[in-house]
This record gives sequence, C-alpha cells and structure tokens, in this order.
Amino acid sequence: MASGRRPLIAANWKMNGLKSDGVALAQAVAAWAKSAGAALRGEVLVSPPATLIDAVSAALTGSPVQLGGQDCHAQPSGAFTGDISAAMLKDLGASHVILGHSERRTLHGETDDQVKAKVAAARSVGLVAIVCVGETEAQRDAGDTLAVIVRQIDGSIPSEATATEIVVAYEPVWAIGTGRTPTLAEIVEVHKAIRARLAARIPGGDAVRILYGGSVKPSNAPEVLALADVDGALVGGASLKADDFFAIVNALPQA
Ligand code: PGA
Repeated sequence: MASGRRPLIAANWKMNGLKSDGVALAQAVAAWAKSAGAALRGEVLVSPPATLIDAVSAALTGSPVQLGGQDCHAQPSGAFTGDISAAMLKDLGASHVILGHSERRTLHGETDDQVKAKVAAARSVGLVAIVCVGETEAQRDAGDTLAVIVRQIDGSIPSEATATEIVVAYEPVWAIGTGRTPTLAEIVEVHKAIRARLAARIPGGDAVRILYGGSVKPSNAPEVLALADVDGALVGGASLKADDFFAIVNALPQA
C-alpha cells in the first residue's frame, strides 16, 4: 500500500447468483459496510452479473458500497444482440466496469484493441474502468511476464485516460480460481512494473490504483494487501461468501 491512494476491494461475482441470493448477498455487504462506517478501511465495490445490477443497485442504496459491471460493449447503442453498453450500466447506478478480464480475453477472444475501445466507452459515460492484465502460466514459465503485462497495459488503456478514470487489476491467469498465487516478491515485481509503465504513459499515473487478483482469500489477504504498490484486490470466489469478503476488506492495512 502506498500513501495517497485509497484502497479498493472489488468483488467480481462472475456468472453466479439468482435474484434472491444475489440481493441477499448485496444486502449483507451493504449492511456490513454501513455499520463499519468510518472504520471501513477502503472502498468496497460489488460487480454482480448484468441480470442483477438493477436489484443490487437498489439493495446498496444508502450504503457506501459501489456497483460495477463485468463488461460492456464499445459502442453506445445499436444492433449488438446480447450486449450491454456502458451507459446502460451507468443508468442502473454503476460507477465502475471490469474490462479485459482474462475470462473475457480467453473465452470470448477479446483483444487489447477491443478492450481499449471498451475503456474508451466507459470513460465517455464517466464509468471507472477496472482494466485487467495478467500472464498465462506458459508466459510466466518463458520469462515473458513483464513484457506481456506492459504490452497489455499499452494496448488496453487509451493514451488519453487520466489517473482517476482507471484502475488496473493484475490477475495472473493461472492464479484465477485455482487457489495458487504468485510469491509476494513476484506480486511486488509486477506491480512495480505496472506502476512504472502507468507513470510513463498517464499524467499523474502514480495515482492509479493497482489491485491484485487471483485466489485472494482471508488467509492470504493480509500479506498481499500490505505489499508496496498493491492498492487493493479484485476478488472472485471469496466474494461470494459474505464473511470471507468482509475478512478480506478488514485485512486492508490501517490508513
Ligand atoms: P478468484 O477470481 O478470486 O476466484 O481467483 C479473481 C478474478 O477472476 O477476478
């Protein structure tokens, strides 16, 4: 954690939850965050599946918990069956959108160029883009991690983006949902490289928050969240269990 950047713990529910359990989880997070009040150690965000955004938005009303989408289309509207625009997310109360998640890159073939266009769409309506980058296991084994990360940063973030419009999430593909994590030294090395690249590309790039994601859980959160240049976490599986998610937020170092 570095000074000046307010940490963020972002939940990525992925394709999980029907209305009743999604709303119940959102209500639990909202009530918990509200009761924590000033003791809340950072910003908290939940990103439900698109079908639940409206209901979750209502459940979060009056709480400090923010709302994010998991993807958006690059175009503002049109003949794009099944897709959702950035303005539609914003319309339902979202403040953020996760873009370029490795599951989108891998399973939907999203390229850096497409992610960049989506980030531009998010910016155009005032949504903060949580831009995901991360190497595959083969890329790490080949010693290509930092080159891959820099290429994804350069390719996915529009050069005109400002520091408050984006958050970067470093998510090693091989650590997502696997229970495996990089060593603390490896996380520091990559976050440092991301920080340097952002500082070189974006005015005030030092203010961009860089989250770690990939098998974050209550047991490893304290040591990960204490690392230099780690400004929070993007949490998948553990964000579906309220108590685990609260424990991760509580693992943020005291400001
Ligand atoms: P995980 O997912 O916490 O389940 O590993 C993280 C993510 O994909 O954002």
